[in-house]
Amino acid sequence: MAAIAQRAEASVETVAIAAERLRAGRLVAFPTETVYGLGADATQDAAVARIFEAKQRPSFNPLICHFPSTDAVCAMFPFPEPAARLADAFWPGSLSMVLPRPAGCPISKLACAGLETVAVRVPNHAMAQSLLSDVGVPVAAPSANRSGRLSPTRAEHVMQSLSDSDVFVLDGGRCAVGVESSVVGFEADGSVSLLREGGISREDILQRTGIEVVYFDAVDEGRSPGRLTRHYQPTKPLRLNVEQPTEDELYLGFGPLPPDLSNKAMTLSERADLTEAAANLFSMLHDLETQDGSSIAVAPIPETGLGRAINDRLQRGAI
Ligand code: TXA
Ligand code: MG
Repeated sequence: MAAIAQRAEASVETVAIAAERLRAGRLVAFPTETVYGLGADATQDAAVARIFEAKQRPSFNPLICHFPSTDAVCAMFPFPEPAARLADAFWPGSLSMVLPRPAGCPISKLACAGLETVAVRVPNHAMAQSLLSDVGVPVAAPSANRSGRLSPTRAEHVMQSLSDSDVFVLDGGRCAVGVESSVVGFEADGSVSLLREGGISREDILQRTGIEVVYFDAVDEGRSPGRLTRHYQPTKPLRLNVEQPTEDELYLGFGPLPPDLSNKAMTLSERADLTEAAANLFSMLHDLETQDGSSIAVAPIPETGLGRAINDRLQRGAI
């Protein structure tokens, strides 16, 4: 019989079922504040392999491992100095840190794609935290969508994308942040590099910790192998920096929509707020890709704060 995804409201009972499933080596999609994750016990090779199979993801992509608390991370990983400061400022939250893999680390090599480092994160979401503490092992989780497609910010998106996989989907409503975590790495000279723009902006990092991150084009340098140039693609072509869409285009605006527009259109944020725009990005793209129209035209988005993460997703989606 073909596998079918199952969905349940997140509650004390369904979190317990989900934890049991994870311990048994099966897949659970769960809400986090960034996007829904497709989780498996990070210490079981076979369980991690199921993630790659369900996502149809190239197996060289390393996954982020999720922990219920900073203490749980510290119990497994020694922190380079700037990591402690970042954890204090941003955990739980939408920041992932790439740390050296300590001797005897129980995390599957498959989850790290054979690298000598592991990306770790403590999500800021009550259901995710109770699931993670119940399971008692780190949970490897990429976004819960087929490789290359739009990321899921609602349980329905996961159900649409992974409907024929054996996955239990915990429905925790809509993700508040809406773009994936920012990923940082630590250099031998003590500096911190930004490997992926995400839910915590460079400006936030500087303001809260005094650390000036250096953006590392992880795609060009082959440093963060999961950073495929082409990614986050809707099923319709995207056209960027458009102020005036053509007649047969769908339109995704930023700020108030042009008054004379006859196109099917939505705005990421009426009041041009980047946080609100990030929260709406994937959800609105999911809506627009199902509508009639030749392509999706998107308004210019300012390249500051969360605007950088939004533009990163849009640019990879537009290739
Ligand atoms: O918000 C998020 O981060 C979501 C939720 C579910 O937590 N997860 C997520 O995972 O976006 P994923 O697998 O789609 O993205 C993982 C990113 C990739 O860009 C990958 O290259 C990078 O993290 N990464 C993972 N492990 C790494 C490592 N050891 N070294 C460098 N980059 C790594
Ligand atoms: Mg992803």
